[in-house]
Amino acid sequence: MVESENFYQNIFTSLVDGILIISADLKVTKVNQASEEIFQRSRRSLEGGSLSKLFPDQPNIIKKARQSITEGISFHHVEGIGCHKSKNERFTVNLTFSPLIKDDLEITAGLILIQDTSLIKELQEISQQTEHLSTLSTLTAGMAHEIRNPLSGIRGSAQLLLKDLKNNGQREYMEIVIEEVDRINRLVKKMMDLTRPALNDFKPTNIHQVLEEILILEKGSLEMKEGAFVQVYDPSIPTIEANKDELKQVFLNLVKNAVEASPKGGQVRISTQYNTDYTFRKNKDTLSSHNIVVKITDFGLGMTTATIKKLFTPFFTTKKRGSGLGMAVSLKIIENHHGKIKVTSKENIGTDIQVFLPVNK
Ligand SMILES: Nc1ncnc2c1ncn2[C@@H]1O[C@H](COP(=O)(O)OP(=O)(O)OP(=O)(O)O)[C@@H](O)[C@H]1O
Ligand SMILES: [Mg+2]
Repeated sequence: MVESENFYQNIFTSLVDGILIISADLKVTKVNQASEEIFQRSRRSLEGGSLSKLFPDQPNIIKKARQSITEGISFHHVEGIGCHKSKNERFTVNLTFSPLIKDDLEITAGLILIQDTSLIKELQEISQQTEHLSTLSTLTAGMAHEIRNPLSGIRGSAQLLLKDLKNNGQREYMEIVIEEVDRINRLVKKMMDLTRPALNDFKPTNIHQVLEEILILEKGSLEMKEGAFVQVYDPSIPTIEANKDELKQVFLNLVKNAVEASPKGGQVRISTQYNTDYTFRKNKDTLSSHNIVVKITDFGLGMTTATIKKLFTPFFTTKKRGSGLGMAVSLKIIENHHGKIKVTSKENIGTDIQVFLPVNK
């Protein structure tokens, strides 16, 4: 059956995978609609351009494209990184290179089939995260009951005993019992915070008030290190719709980390800013154009890239007595507020944690 050229044209246009036809000098000569979508560029800006512009700094891809044309070979499942027009956006792709054989059996062009795999990768990562959170949530709900009840019994009894104990050595042991019970209690509470379904009773909240309330709590531990808080507040910040208790928990976690990381005499800076033009990645990651930013800066230990990577993983800690839940709980709460957390850190220089919260949700 001989199909009309129109038929093939239709296939070319409607394929969900991108197709690039390239010439022997590795210029793009024809693209389909899916390619326009994948690269977020018009056909006009794609056709005539060089292949290396779409896959910058990847000699491997240029080499394969050339080889498929000059030697007539195909390559499958080649991983690459594509580049959107707005320079900094990269996305992962899976590529197939084939030589294009014309009627006269001469190869003068090549075809590249492109699958955008970035969304798949992103979804896989997210679903892995939520998967282990849901297992954790069943576990936690059970644990919370089974652990917290006997704990309150232990704590109560220990406290009664403490009252009657006169011997200082014995008192010390009993105080340790109470301290450790409190520690387990905090851990269980944090696990419940992480796994409990999100609360949505948002009320107009003054972020400066939230910050002041938690700074009072942490002032003592920073002063023990001879350090101090420095507040730089933007007075133009409006109230935001939020759950105050949850936000207090977030900033308490973040400020605690900053204090714990600080060296002797270190400052911890808390600054706020009202942004009306800060835009995030397009599409699903949008943050409203009006948002506030709370920045917590310490000049302490800093983090290695390996630590930054695992920062939000539940139970990841580098501290002797840390639970590794502080950042995971904070992220969960901020996401529930449709906000974002941005981390910048350099080893032995310090850490910058920025929390973005939308103003008009
Ligand atoms: N400001 C910071 N400076 C240096 N490292 C940090 C900072 N904040 C977090 N980290 C690193 O990230 C890890 C995880 O932090 P997270 O708050 O989740 O748990 P934690 O502080 O170890 O324990 P918890 O908060 O439960 O007491 C920390 O152990 C630390 O290695
Ligand atoms: Mg912490």
